[in-house]
Amino acid sequence: MNAFSIPELHIGRLTARIPIVQGGMGVGVSLSGLASAVAEAGGIGVIAAAGIGMLEPDFDTRFQEANERALQREISRARSMTSGLIGVNIMIALSDHESLLHTALDSGADVIFMGAGLPLKIPAMVTPERIQSGDAMIVPIVSSGRAVEIICRSWLRSGCLPYAFVLEGPLAGGHLGFRKNQIDDPAFSLERLLAETLDALETFRQRAGRDIPVIAGGGVYTGHDVYHLMERGTAGVQMATRFVTTKECDAHDRFREAYLRAREEDLMIIDSPVGLPGRALRNPFLNDVTAGERKPFRCPWKCLRTCNFREAPYCIGMALANAKQGLLEEGFVFAGSNAWRADRIVSVQELMNELVGEYEKVMQENSVA
Ligand SMILES: Cc1cc2nc3c(=O)[nH]c(=O)nc-3n(C[C@H](O)[C@H](O)[C@H](O)COP(=O)(O)O)c2cc1C
Repeated sequence: MNAFSIPELHIGRLTARIPIVQGGMGVGVSLSGLASAVAEAGGIGVIAAAGIGMLEPDFDTRFQEANERALQREISRARSMTSGLIGVNIMIALSDHESLLHTALDSGADVIFMGAGLPLKIPAMVTPERIQSGDAMIVPIVSSGRAVEIICRSWLRSGCLPYAFVLEGPLAGGHLGFRKNQIDDPAFSLERLLAETLDALETFRQRAGRDIPVIAGGGVYTGHDVYHLMERGTAGVQMATRFVTTKECDAHDRFREAYLRAREEDLMIIDSPVGLPGRALRNPFLNDVTAGERKPFRCPWKCLRTCNFREAPYCIGMALANAKQGLLEEGFVFAGSNAWRADRIVSVQELMNELVGEYEKVMQENSVA
């Protein structure tokens, strides 16, 4: 460690040597392979719970058990590959999110990131004491300072506060916590959102008598970007898109290749059946559904509380599971706004070295200037 080293990220009693959280990527894109590699390289590796059981043989008949089993297996595989920090990403919009949370905590996940909905109430099986002691480390993912305020006020009624927040801006991949007209509006830039979030947290930090770090993400691509955000008060960053084009990403080669082939104009905003806009790579499947075509499906489980499956033109779970397995004609790929910049596949360690190297170089240059 020297004066120009990238700082560690502290969340309660947890310390990540590198302040980079790999964003959870659902339906099999970030499982134990990617998460363990990121954790091993010093960041926080995250297994995404959304659709994790979709490739289990009994998913159609025993949806909840299949998800629980697959999540438990991925956490224990990750644990066998690294002693680094392993998180689980759970979307609150999932109809079985409480059972997934239970499984994640029982299986020894270090931290649980909860997004796609506001975790207003402390889940029934987690006592405020477990949260207070840092035993159940639940980190909400938000898109505004207002959401931070609402969550903190609500948790305070149970006598506790979150240990950290992830702030996800409109340049992220996957589902976005913004209305379509806000996505390109400079008033919703990550920097602006970060400033309002840090402001909103000030009083709650004082109440908690400890720091409540913010981890910012959405469009973070280089070590310069990381530095830029850390200078503005974020304690770490969440990055997902860059981890797709790594050797360890758990999706099929064709999924990664879609990123390598992508041009800037291929990125598009879709109206997801989940009821939120989402950022994805344009392909014939998305062109068809955008033009009004329906892709018939049967919904055996209603995996998303917010999905109006009777009206939905396609099943998003199946479309994403197909893409994860390389069947891009029958699905599509979620991607962040910078996905088109990827030009090669690297190992997670190479990527982390590059990001840290860039960060430390800017840090040094700025201290001389
Ligand atoms: C392929 C893909 C799948 C994603 N799936 C999820 C998910 O299941 N849950 C979630 O909270 N965020 C999801 N995200 C968002 C990421 O976790 C992350 O916060 C965001 O993409 C960060 O922006 P970046 O991709 O520009 O780095 C996904 C993103 C991508 C690219």
